[in-house]
Amino acid sequence: MNQPVMGGVAALLNVPAYIKQQKLINWVAEIAALTKPERIYWCDGSQEEYDRLCGEMVAAGTMKKLNQELRPNSYLACSDPTDVARVEDRTYICSNTKEEAGPTNNWMAPSEMRATLNPLFDGCMAGRTMYVVPFSMGPLGSPIAHIGVELSDSPYVAVNMRIMTRMGKAVYDVLGTDGEFVPCVHTVGAPLAAGQKDVAWPCNATKYIVHFPETREIWSYGSGYGGNALLGKKCFALRIASNMGHQDAQAGGTGWLAEHMLILGVESPEGKKHYVAAAFPSACGKTNFAMLIPPTTFDGWKVTTIGDDIAWIKPGADGRLYAINPEAGYFGVAPGTNTRTNSNCMASLGSDTIFTNVALTDDGDIWWEGLTKEAPAHLIDWQGKDWTPASGTKAAHPNARFTVAATQNPVIDPAWDDPAGVPISAFIFGGRRSTTVPLVTEARNWVEGVYMAATMGSETTAAAAGQMGIVRRDPFAMLPFIGYNMSDYFQHWLNLGEKLGKVNAATLPKIYCVNWFRTDEQGHFVWPGFGDNMRVLKWMLERIEGTAGGVENIFGTTPRFGDLKWDGIPFSPEEFETITSIDKDAWREELKLHDELFAKLAYHLPTELTAVKAELEKRLAR
Ligand code: OXD
Ligand code: MN
Repeated sequence: MNQPVMGGVAALLNVPAYIKQQKLINWVAEIAALTKPERIYWCDGSQEEYDRLCGEMVAAGTMKKLNQELRPNSYLACSDPTDVARVEDRTYICSNTKEEAGPTNNWMAPSEMRATLNPLFDGCMAGRTMYVVPFSMGPLGSPIAHIGVELSDSPYVAVNMRIMTRMGKAVYDVLGTDGEFVPCVHTVGAPLAAGQKDVAWPCNATKYIVHFPETREIWSYGSGYGGNALLGKKCFALRIASNMGHQDAQAGGTGWLAEHMLILGVESPEGKKHYVAAAFPSACGKTNFAMLIPPTTFDGWKVTTIGDDIAWIKPGADGRLYAINPEAGYFGVAPGTNTRTNSNCMASLGSDTIFTNVALTDDGDIWWEGLTKEAPAHLIDWQGKDWTPASGTKAAHPNARFTVAATQNPVIDPAWDDPAGVPISAFIFGGRRSTTVPLVTEARNWVEGVYMAATMGSETTAAAAGQMGIVRRDPFAMLPFIGYNMSDYFQHWLNLGEKLGKVNAATLPKIYCVNWFRTDEQGHFVWPGFGDNMRVLKWMLERIEGTAGGVENIFGTTPRFGDLKWDGIPFSPEEFETITSIDKDAWREELKLHDELFAKLAYHLPTELTAVKAELEKRLAR
């Protein structure tokens, strides 16, 4: 059944008999003919394969094996210092027209981009192995899941993809002879001449992270790091998938959502359980919220994790929204993680973890800023240099990561792998705001909730922007991840809510806006955060059940002091006032910033959103 393929490549192909799809085989052959690898390796996803590839990377100097007693089956990889994070300015959405990509994305005409990429990919894998990595985003065979195949010349990508996705042989059974897959091509962009010695972390100063939404292709060049290289994550599960959900609606389907959201389950002592999905920009404690440990005074309350970063959400026939975590692992930021901020996460990292760009201790374990109060007296830093507390540099890179299987999370939800997904009762949107935005507000209706999400903002940190406190608008926390026009995306949300509301208005998820980051006059956070976020979560759950009180303000409904449970912390009504008060002058300024955002997004901006803004202005003027 396997038809002959292009000349010299045929000899390399050696297709395993269990692969039955000719279209896939032809594509692999076509990419191999372009990129010219020395070998092709078809990943089967087995433990034996994972151990072997890690062993090869240890021999090549890409990884170090950590102390087997202290951190069993775990590795440390350190990247090139120029390849440490996602490269938003090198990320493109190449839709047919610039308007379809929208003003928040980089765009180039598809033909021009293909003409740019073709010479770069020509021969880019010379001297290397091309790994064929089949993966399912979501439980295998789930009606919410979709399949991708990544061709990469990085073994680091192959092993990380095994943790982050359902990767391996079984994917080909779902794919069959004519199943759909998203083709993903990745290269570190560092071909090896005959006899040339490799470096520990090959990459290229030129980088392109490119998406073609019409043909659903991903092409990534020059980086081996995180979201640039593990193409199932931001590239497929957010940028391409958000297009897929929108295209489905445009073709007359119900449409669906691919969101930058964690999903958690929360269960009351009476056994009432709800799932909520929450969107926060980077550096707002998403993983900590997804693995929240309720305060000890919240006897019988349980929080469980479905996912920590991405949610795929499809409408069911009953008018409810069902969500899956398309990923199978966590690629989380290590610095700042410790037993106080997230002891569930620390427990997850006990073994079988890949660490990237953290520091190495003298006994072969890992360390990062914030892991312990006192730094060890000596470390090897993420750049391989000797480090002591007097060095004056960070031992771990601020964007250092861990890659770990979701199954290692002690509070994984029993339904995390359910192909049917879990029903979503509420959406939570939050940013980092030292002023203006109150602790929690419930939108009065779907349209007001979409407005809250569309206008959400977050203060940049000094490291990111060079200046503290600049509010960057990050609608739905999707600014770097939306794969099409942001205003069309707002409309997609509005349309979906309208459709679902017609099926069953009572089950339409509630929408909340939260802000854990208000500060007092001295600049200290007032809200204790972490486990205490449970107090807000409990209120939301009771609102969904119709048992909690609240009071309406300009923006929606908020709890009064007495509506939250305070047992276990000495939190005063005055402190509560500090983080819930509404400063009308500050809000007048805030609405000017909403105007700026809306001016930028004027093309296709839903009129419903400008109408909400006009109502807010009226209420503020009263
Ligand atoms: C992430 C991000 O890595 O949002 O999850 O940047
Ligand atoms: Mn993220």
